[in-house]
Amino acid sequence: MARLLTLVSLLFLSVASQVAASPCVAFDADWNLYAFGFNGNDYNASSSSSWASGTATSVTTSGRPPFDGTNTTCYLSQFYNAIYVLNGDSENPSDVHLFDPTAKSWTTQTTTGGPNVSYSAVLDHDTNVFYVLDVTGELWFLSFTNLTTAAQSSAIPWTNVEAAGFNTASYQPVMALADNHVYFLNAPGVAGGSAEIFVIHFSWFQPTTQSYGDFSAQHGQTASIFLPANEGVQLAFAYVPDDGSATYVIDVISNTTVTMAGPSTKDSGATYFASDAAIVQLTSSGAVNYIPYTNSSADTSASWSSVKNLVSVAPTSSAGSSSKTGTASAGSSSSTSGTSSGSSSGSNSNGAPGMSAKSGSVVVGMMSALLLGTIAIFIS
Ligand SMILES: *[C@@H]1O[C@H](CO)[C@@H](O)[C@H](O)[C@H]1NC(C)=O
Ligand SMILES: *[C@@H]1O[C@H](CO)[C@@H](O)[C@H](O)[C@H]1NC(C)=O
Repeated sequence: MARLLTLVSLLFLSVASQVAASPCVAFDADWNLYAFGFNGNDYNASSSSSWASGTATSVTTSGRPPFDGTNTTCYLSQFYNAIYVLNGDSENPSDVHLFDPTAKSWTTQTTTGGPNVSYSAVLDHDTNVFYVLDVTGELWFLSFTNLTTAAQSSAIPWTNVEAAGFNTASYQPVMALADNHVYFLNAPGVAGGSAEIFVIHFSWFQPTTQSYGDFSAQHGQTASIFLPANEGVQLAFAYVPDDGSATYVIDVISNTTVTMAGPSTKDSGATYFASDAAIVQLTSSGAVNYIPYTNSSADTSASWSSVKNLVSVAPTSSAGSSSKTGTASAGSSSSTSGTSSGSSSGSNSNGAPGMSAKSGSVVVGMMSALLLGTIAIFIS
């Protein structure tokens, strides 16, 4: 009996840790590094000169999203110094949360229509518009043009742009933003070193791919590399393939690629965010690491270090590993935004496995834990 109860409480514990396991990291426009959703708290790790020691400052406050969505992602609106959060609330996946780092306050923007935003999105620098490629290969946008650091009272509708100008069958998007263009890496049939391009200002898919030199053709993660304030739009982005073998910095003006060291922690579940001078990795077990970036020849010999002032507040590694278990269950392609693009229902299976499955599997997990609890009580 006691053993059974222990088993049941262990189940409860592992289920509970899944709920809080969708953190993200982001910079504000002054290059303070924030860690959101770390064991239910948010932290300001300050600028890179503070990362080597000490403890980040808690900035947890009311109005924050629970950071329990599927693949919660964070974005910097550099012009307005605002951080936007997509998919931060599993119960309201179409909400976008806005954090004002100056006022340290949150507001929630409701949206209507649109794709499952747990997929892959970018935020354009100059127009303040999000772009998402959905599982059917349709591109969507969500305009925050009229917002700055706070939500407006009326909902903002997602707008369907058009079908991607390239073959998206079985494509798990690897999207990047620089120079007000969206880059799609590892698209079907496109060799390593090249990308498909969407030109935002003309709302147009460039008919030919562009070569950038040498990088591997793999699924991976990207992070726009910002320029200092008032120096304009990002002109490069980092790309880390899932195998963590390298950190590529792709310059979209010279169309060249610099190869930097791959992260020390090879983690296909890691996410990345860059400032003007560092590329930061958040691993799926909650560790935060960075490599300095100087846009000089020093970059090829730079190495990765831990952001030490986040170590003591990092999500426990058990939370990270159980969240992986949670996401690994069979994916449902149902749209979590409450509306579908019209053609997504079962038409193809190129969606990422596990999409929108995490919150579902948490619920299933909780129900089985409850059921086991009931059985345990019944046996007693
Ligand atoms: C870089 O690529 C873009 C997009 O294809 C192209 O418009 C531009 O002319 C290229 N620049 C150079 C220097 O090749
Ligand atoms: C969510 O993240 C996991 C780990 O990075 C990834 O395998 C999965 O494809 C992502 N799901 C979506 C829908 O992007």
